[in-house]
Amino acid sequence: MHRRTLYSLSSTVSLLRRNIRVNQRLVVVSTASYSTKTVAFTADTYSHKVQRDPKFKKLDDADIEFFKGVLTDKGLITDADDLLFYNEDWMRKYRGQSQLVLKPKTTEQVSQILKYCNEQKLAVVPQGGNTGLVGGSNPIFDEIIISLSSMNKIRSFDSVSGILKLDAGVILETADQYLAEQGYIFPLDLGAKGSCHVGGNVACNAGGLRLLRYGSLHGSVLGLEAVLPDGSIYDSMHSLRKDNTGYDLKQLFIGSEGTLGIITGISILCPSRPQTQNVAFLAVSSYEAVQKVFVEARKELSEILSAFEFMDGTSLYLTGKHLKLDNPIESGEYPFYILIETSGSNKEHDDEKLENFLAGAMEAELVDDGIIAQDESQIQSLWSWRESIPEGVTATGGVYKYDVSIPLPELYSLVEACNERLQEAGIVSLEDESKPVVAAVGYGHIGDGNLHLNVSVRKYSSEVESLLEPFVYEWIQSRKGSISAEHGLGFQKKNYIGYSKSPVEINMIKEIKNHYDPNGIMNPYKYV
Ligand code: FAD
Ligand code: MLT
Ligand code: ZN
Repeated sequence: MHRRTLYSLSSTVSLLRRNIRVNQRLVVVSTASYSTKTVAFTADTYSHKVQRDPKFKKLDDADIEFFKGVLTDKGLITDADDLLFYNEDWMRKYRGQSQLVLKPKTTEQVSQILKYCNEQKLAVVPQGGNTGLVGGSNPIFDEIIISLSSMNKIRSFDSVSGILKLDAGVILETADQYLAEQGYIFPLDLGAKGSCHVGGNVACNAGGLRLLRYGSLHGSVLGLEAVLPDGSIYDSMHSLRKDNTGYDLKQLFIGSEGTLGIITGISILCPSRPQTQNVAFLAVSSYEAVQKVFVEARKELSEILSAFEFMDGTSLYLTGKHLKLDNPIESGEYPFYILIETSGSNKEHDDEKLENFLAGAMEAELVDDGIIAQDESQIQSLWSWRESIPEGVTATGGVYKYDVSIPLPELYSLVEACNERLQEAGIVSLEDESKPVVAAVGYGHIGDGNLHLNVSVRKYSSEVESLLEPFVYEWIQSRKGSISAEHGLGFQKKNYIGYSKSPVEINMIKEIKNHYDPNGIMNPYKYV
């Protein structure tokens, strides 16, 4: 293993110039670039788990005429080829059979649509950017897809308070670019930012890359506008940070995954944009070291620490293979890598702090090697390595994803336990194409105690899935973790909520659902 004191800003420049393609922003999200395969219908793959509920009406010509009356012809998609994008998920694991996508432009139109669907018992699936990772944004059978992509206006921005009000269908990156012009930043960032909607982010309570710094959407969202299944419009588009009058109803929608209503507007508190940022990419030789570096980073970088992400060597290997790029650390391959970001207002101060911190970490032999980005494009390139992992591990043919919260000391043991199990079954190999599984890998948001266990496969198969589930969920339950730290329940985890919630909690959730959606039209076959 190479050991070299290269943390210093000056000595790092040459390394970066050699290894990182300057001014090249890697493509992070592409829906179907890795495979042209046909995705099996969810209803067929999981026919043993789910059947169409006959209480739901099948779409007919009269329904289409009604929707045309509300939206005109332009607001409907019925062409089979055009429907494909909306029916399939990002992982190409789930595929619904919807015959209709509706694209309302106003909250009033959403209200008319939902009222009609509720009366007619037509099941619906709200859809944002369709980047969700638990099969929540696609129909299972013939549910109507209601896409928010035509509701994409910034409504207002208050440059004194930093409160942004916007339509649910605004793309996250668009919202952030708008805020950048005002000197502010969106308090959420994630790899799918170029495609996902802020409404989708709120609907699944996305965590992302900087939760450690800006907190959860449960804290930053100040108000919502949402349409309930009966068509009534819940309007709480407040600009108030403090409001203790009654239950905080907006919280019900944050993380509801389209099961209670359709979010149409969001009011969110945005922080000032940092004036200076640093990104360091470090190689370490054990998961123990990852934890120790995290403890030191919190202590030494404290208020300027804005992200602390980790990934194992196999995640990085698969990502590099997919992107056709060499490992950013030139001295070799390491068991674990860490990405640290600092954000602040004084470059000299932050540089010095980071340099001192890295000097300490190298001296204590916690860090084996590392690089520090020297400019914005290098920052972007280093982030691309982390943000491209989801695509890198899926590019082999498919992926079984688990986004879990486990107390930090045991976090990575889940990846080891999975690899052991797959090896015992003789079905895993990084290179041997005849084995169905490529590898179980781990990466994620150490700062939030959130591991992404990804089992990269050559194709989806019930044999692999039954080895992983419920094994993974039982393992998490025995450590008192959560089976979903950020992606939600969707279709994938519908039957598994009991591993993280008690019967009393599940009952309360079901009662709330039945109260607001008594006909069960909102995103059926999912969540609970
Ligand atoms: P969709 O996928 O369209 O929908 C997600 C769920 O929300 C569905 O159940 C849907 O019915 C519902 N929904 C969508 N819009 C609305 C609405 N307006 N009203 C009511 N319900 C609605 N997640 C993280 O938490 N952290 C990450 O770091 C992260 N990184 C990602 C990186 C990549 C490359 C990808 C592909 C995904 C990532 N995700 C991450 C998953 C994440 O949940 C989504 O990217 C994002 O939050 C979903 O937004 P969307 O608009 O695509 O929603
Ligand atoms: C991430 O952190 O990269 C996302 O949550 C997506 C994923 O887990 O693949
Ligand atoms: Zn994540």
